[in-house]
Amino acid sequence: TVLILDFGSQYSHLITRRVREAGVYCELLPCTQKIDDLHFKPKGIILSGSPYSIFDDGAPHVDPKVFDLGVPILGICYGLQEIARNKGGQIGICEKREYGHAQLRVIKHAEHPFIDRLLDGLGDESVVWMSHGHHLDKAPEGFRVIGETDASTYAAVGHETDHIFGIQFHPEVTHSVDGARVLHNFVVDICGCETNWTMASFIDKEIERIRAIVGPSGQVVGAVSGGVDSTVAAKLMKDAIGDRFHAILVDNGVMRLNECQAVKEILRNRLGINLEVVDASDLFLGRLAGIKNPEKKRKIIGNTFIEVFEKQAALIDERTAASGHGKIDFLLQGTLYPDVIESISFKGPSATIKTHHNVGGLLDDMKLKLIEPLRELFKDEVRALGKLLNIDDELVWRHPFPGPGIAIRILGEVTPAQVAIARAADYIYIEEIKNAGLYRQISQAYAALLPIRSVGVMGDQRTYEQVIALRAVETTDFMTADWFPMPYNVLKRISNRIINEVKGVNRVVYDVSSKPPSTIEWE
Ligand code: XMP
Repeated sequence: TVLILDFGSQYSHLITRRVREAGVYCELLPCTQKIDDLHFKPKGIILSGSPYSIFDDGAPHVDPKVFDLGVPILGICYGLQEIARNKGGQIGICEKREYGHAQLRVIKHAEHPFIDRLLDGLGDESVVWMSHGHHLDKAPEGFRVIGETDASTYAAVGHETDHIFGIQFHPEVTHSVDGARVLHNFVVDICGCETNWTMASFIDKEIERIRAIVGPSGQVVGAVSGGVDSTVAAKLMKDAIGDRFHAILVDNGVMRLNECQAVKEILRNRLGINLEVVDASDLFLGRLAGIKNPEKKRKIIGNTFIEVFEKQAALIDERTAASGHGKIDFLLQGTLYPDVIESISFKGPSATIKTHHNVGGLLDDMKLKLIEPLRELFKDEVRALGKLLNIDDELVWRHPFPGPGIAIRILGEVTPAQVAIARAADYIYIEEIKNAGLYRQISQAYAALLPIRSVGVMGDQRTYEQVIALRAVETTDFMTADWFPMPYNVLKRISNRIINEVKGVNRVVYDVSSKPPSTIEWE
């Protein structure tokens, strides 16, 4: 295992990713991690970059014991400066911030072949990505320059005898052309890690971990939605503890058309997950009656969800107590790595749990402990995992769907009649996107029902009906998104079908707003 200590850089998760892509298992921990408290012995340590200046009051620092472990260390950007701070180098402020591409010239040292290993295979020059306002003015004793750029004399350094390296550039971003090679060199050739981290090994390890946490009779509950994250998490849990895992699907009345039935079929029948479906649609829709404010809708759905879920969990607890199982102590959540990145900060462990917006509140109320088997994974890794766990492609590649469902896609009041219109239009939209072979190219698509009427003509009749807005976006992180350039012929088919088949709609428009400044959802 390689230990990555995070100083809060926006790129820290990418380091984790590249190391895993090299087939080496690694863990990302806050830079304040006490070395004595580590639960494993790392074979190497990487110190990340940071948004902080090393001169700031309150700038984060590592436990100096990092340097006593005797394992190879690689400092990246701020990490390099942190090494210099500990080892007696001099750090200065760049006259001009160095940001963007730079040409790295590799400097070889025949007398110290070991330090050449870090940049092995890069040739004489390589394009790297820089982003820093400080640099080394003088390297600590024993360090040799192994790479320089026009602006940075100490773009890469290595210690003659201790296996400590520092680089000012960011090897984890793809703009550094040979960055992956540099990280591979470090973790494999320098640290000597084995390259045996694969998704299959992840499954075995995670199942073992879950069994150890839950114990031989403990029980776990978890909400499922039919999305890829909660399904993959549920399948892992089922493989680990079988029927002691209870999946709960709450039908909130604002799911997609036929959704509840489809989820039931896949999870219960195909994946063998112990699933209970609670039909609470009347309760949800009753509470949503008369509510137009988007935030109020979200709140009502969130709170009602917690209430229904807790009640069901209590019922299961009661029922299974008789069978000799332990109490339900754990809550499963399909939290992914990007959700936790922001919260893995050096500001302390108190900030390390960011509960999912749908189920936030459950932990406090139910005194449950959280299990998050996917918390180290990225979305595409979860998809790969889903495939390995024999989950259907269709589910694995599903677009995300918000917890408050189509309630936040029906602008204005959510009534059963409005739900029926929005569902029908959305169903046609997605069906035609799939027919056109575009579903996977689009990150998320849905139909929103607008609370306005416009005039139309059908046959000889004047109509005065509602508007459907089609949304489709491309994005990797859902923080920013571009609208998808939907081909005209596809739009034409969708529009025709919706207007002809969905009663109550006489106009369809396509949303051409990117995020920011718009959001993906309309509410
Ligand atoms: P926005 O509208 O903020 O959406 O651009 C970004 C992504 O988040 C999803 N989303 C939610 N997901 N509960 C969820 O589980 C919510 O309350 C929620 N609100 C937005 C949205 O569908 C998009 O993928």
